[in-house]
Amino acid sequence: MDTGKEKISWARQYMPVLSSIAREFRENQPLKGVRIGMALHVEAKTACLVEALAAGGAAVHITGCNPLSTQDDVARALGEVPGVHCYARRGVSPSEYYAAIDRVLDSHPQVVIDDGMDLIHRLHTTRRDCLPGVLGGCEETTTGVHRLRAMAREGRLAFPVVAVNDTPMKRHFDNVHGTGESALAGIMLTTNMLMAGKAVVVAGYGFCGRGLARKLHGLGARVIVTEVDPRKALEAYMDGFSVMPMEKAAGEGEIFITATGNTSVIAAPHFARIRPGAVLANAGHFNVEIDLGWLEENADAVTRRDGIDTYTVGGKEIHVLAEGRLVNLAVPKGMGHPIEVMDLSFSLQALCALHIVTSGREMKPGVHEVPTEIDETVAARKLASLGLSIDELTESQEKYLSGWESGT
Ligand code: ADE
Repeated sequence: MDTGKEKISWARQYMPVLSSIAREFRENQPLKGVRIGMALHVEAKTACLVEALAAGGAAVHITGCNPLSTQDDVARALGEVPGVHCYARRGVSPSEYYAAIDRVLDSHPQVVIDDGMDLIHRLHTTRRDCLPGVLGGCEETTTGVHRLRAMAREGRLAFPVVAVNDTPMKRHFDNVHGTGESALAGIMLTTNMLMAGKAVVVAGYGFCGRGLARKLHGLGARVIVTEVDPRKALEAYMDGFSVMPMEKAAGEGEIFITATGNTSVIAAPHFARIRPGAVLANAGHFNVEIDLGWLEENADAVTRRDGIDTYTVGGKEIHVLAEGRLVNLAVPKGMGHPIEVMDLSFSLQALCALHIVTSGREMKPGVHEVPTEIDETVAARKLASLGLSIDELTESQEKYLSGWESGT
């Protein structure tokens, strides 16, 4: 067996919910003849999602959503699955990246599944020729949903897109535990550094930042949070973390992890204050959170080794992991989120893709929530796979909750 196939079958065994959906898809063929175009991180768990969609009868064309996150052995194995065409390759240039997206679009997909919105952006700009055939799409990540909402606000989004990222079964698990564990795994595997006792700055206290801070605390790190939203900053403070502006944190941190979705979060004024030997990593979708342009232009020297670029600035060394790209996937040993977490996210994706096929025609262009029924189905199946059962409301409890008259 080749390594790509081995990785996929390793992942599959820990994805009971997605496997149950794949079984039903195989039996009922609800996606028969549907063309699905995807731009996701092409690694083993993604391959399990693609297999499930293909098992349901879909023709799937897929490429990567980040130049560094594809695992080439998995991409090769995926290309051999009947009904699947994979164009992803690790280490592509920007023009190769978009050429691969164009190959996906050449299949004239009816459903698109995106992670970061580069595919949907292309559809609305240089590949508008493909727009008329699109029923709708699904978006995986915070940054993608952010871009979609901006498009929708300007009335530019031409079809319905389900914001998979925003549903509780995604963000409370994938964003919190997935990013929390996999970003730290990526940093630790790449640097071999100890977290216990370290001053670690987490930029952004959204769902991903919360997960990172919580896991770092568990490892014994001294966590400093930076925020722009006073409510989130206060939440971080009451969760027990130090809160301060980046300008101050820059001089205190030994490791920095950005998870804001915004640009230039660590930039020139901070580089001036940062301590020698500091390690900078990004856990957000795009490589814009650390101002790499400034470092490239102003460093006296740069040393590049596998997954770590060292910039010498004003006599001190600053280390940047994975070229400032998603540290959990783009470091050489990055594997992305843990399997069990992606079981939930990709089960949501599979069911939302089906939702677009069955209901997309009736949905208005714009950003849509994941239907509650899908969210609850994924949760219930996961609980069942864990052998857990929960209470049910009694009749009188239901009545109590739906009434307003009983008080003191
Ligand atoms: N593996 C596949 N997609 C992923 C994502 N969006 N984040 C982390 N790991 C992944």
